[in-house]
Amino acid sequence: MILPVRKAVIPAAGLGTRFLPATKAVPKEMLPIVDTPTIQLVIDEAARAGIRDVIVVNGRGKGAIEDHFDHAYELEHTLRSRGKNAEADALAGITRLARIISVRQHQPLGLGHAVLCAREAVGDEPFAVLLGDDLIADQGRPGIGQLIDIHAATGAGVVSIMEVPEGKEHMYGIVAGDWADGRLRIREMVEKPRPGTAPSRWAIVGRYVLPPAIWPMLASTKAGHGGEIQLTDGLKGLAASSEGLYGAVIDGERHDAGDRLGYLRANLAYALARADLREPVMEMMREVLEQHSGKVGG
Ligand code: G1P
Repeated sequence: MILPVRKAVIPAAGLGTRFLPATKAVPKEMLPIVDTPTIQLVIDEAARAGIRDVIVVNGRGKGAIEDHFDHAYELEHTLRSRGKNAEADALAGITRLARIISVRQHQPLGLGHAVLCAREAVGDEPFAVLLGDDLIADQGRPGIGQLIDIHAATGAGVVSIMEVPEGKEHMYGIVAGDWADGRLRIREMVEKPRPGTAPSRWAIVGRYVLPPAIWPMLASTKAGHGGEIQLTDGLKGLAASSEGLYGAVIDGERHDAGDRLGYLRANLAYALARADLREPVMEMMREVLEQHSGKVGG
């Protein structure tokens, strides 16, 4: 019997060094896209896919994440006393998005290790993993929901993949295998291959649905790329198993919010997708471009 996917793991213990100084005191997961922290967008994706429990793997100084998903009684009370009920309801809604469970990663030993820290909280059932640096703007079924559908049909582990331009393979986990029924049956995987050695241009995007069989595999995974315990290396065991591991292309626009340029791009794309901001943002972009290049027409 294939169990439903009810739990998601969000690794959030990174130091956010690419966004210093912003991330000196604020966790990178709290950096906003327009006005919403990236981790809220990711948890909203999981919640819309039917996930109830979200296990956030924290490191030091991540109390702001817990506070964000807790009731802000004084703030809600103040808003209501000023007649701002819609705003107060929106804040209360964040608390209801999911049940947040915090676990701690005591040492930064890598993504595979971070996921393993959630083992007890997840237990013996399939679960989703969502990396907060990857945002997927969907127009219907949430990105992780699309992987859950494939898991429901196959019972196997599934990772989201995308084709990256030649020369960019070294920035990702790369997979290769055989295509059938619109999915890749993964046979080979390598985390951040050295330039010129990648087995394909199919890169892992930060969405996974994994069966509990991954736990002992992760527990025995040794440090790999960068001296860290890599999730990609742990997944090799699933790829070699009879159930297999699949790669699937998710329908939706992916943003790399973990990169400064990607973060700015995500802000613009999310703003343009909002009815209240689209026109003013287009106008503002024209103005900024004119001012800064002196040669861009409207
Ligand atoms: C992680 C994974 C990598 C994956 C990437 C997707 O790397 O280790 O396999 O391709 O996320 O964003 P990171 O970007 O955290 O270095």
